[in-house]
Amino acid sequence: MISMKSVSHRKGIVLAGGSGTRLYPGTLAVSKQLMPIYDKPMIYYPISVLMLSRIREILIISTPQDTPLFKRLLGDGSDFGVQFSYAVQSRPEGLAQAFLIGSDFLDGSEVALILGDNLFYGHDFVRIVESAAEKRQGATIFGYQVSNPNAYGVVEFSEEGRVLSIEEKPDHPKSSYAVPGLYFYDGKVTTYARKIRPSARGELEITDLNKIYLERGELRLELLGRGTAWLDTGTHKSLLDAAQFVHVIEERQGLKMACLEGIGFENGWISTETLERRIHFLGNTGYASYLKRYLG
Ligand code: DAU
Repeated sequence: MISMKSVSHRKGIVLAGGSGTRLYPGTLAVSKQLMPIYDKPMIYYPISVLMLSRIREILIISTPQDTPLFKRLLGDGSDFGVQFSYAVQSRPEGLAQAFLIGSDFLDGSEVALILGDNLFYGHDFVRIVESAAEKRQGATIFGYQVSNPNAYGVVEFSEEGRVLSIEEKPDHPKSSYAVPGLYFYDGKVTTYARKIRPSARGELEITDLNKIYLERGELRLELLGRGTAWLDTGTHKSLLDAAQFVHVIEERQGLKMACLEGIGFENGWISTETLERRIHFLGNTGYASYLKRYLG
């Protein structure tokens, strides 16, 4: 019998909208975040990060046409022991808009925002996000060394790890540390998000939100070391890279990444009966056979 793991007071948002134009024609009819990364839909990966941080109340935000498809895929969350709500972003007007769209859902509580196309994997990673999820004041962002920082938000920091600056896709990056699409904020996030004005590219930038926290001395930085993999999936090549990465790790270990039913079961959030029902529903698949292992 697995005991119930603690539940975070924090809520979660997965932002899974956007136009996906860079992947046309692949994303003309279906959202990028519904496409498979090897053996499961892309959105399973960011949802798993929230569940591993013990977050159970999760808002999925997507486009008007894709939101019904996410509902069909994920339902109310009872298959995984979480509670999903859904909201629509009518136009991709920036990552920070998630907090305006989600203001009723959040109702002043702390939140973790994760982008629906970001994948994380690593030994120490769960411990790091669990600890970020426990903080009640301020914001936590992460820094990850990359070879092309100018494609991302870039964070510059002092030797003690204090954030000095944060810039969105700078031409001349002040460091090689990108800010991945995973952010933890306190209950003031909606108030701060309302202060932001659209950038030159017409978006409410998450970087501008982080700058507000920085100016107030409330922005923490956690570095993700080279033992952690952070992958995004903006291009055909990076999609293939991510799928190959998952394939190699899963084949080698015989363990699945981002198996939401398994995480829900191990957290003590779903019963054996729920898991059995799910296995039956998924039928004669490798995924269902894998889930049988949890039944011992
Ligand atoms: O991946 C991390 C990076 O994500 C950060 O380092 C940057 O600071 C942050 O601005 C963001 O940069 P991108 O330019 O890569 O974001 P992009 O416009 O590609 O959007 C990221 C995901 O969020 C993408 O899957 C689409 C979705 N999205 C985007 C926007 C602007 C939405 O769902 N709604 C939106 O309004």
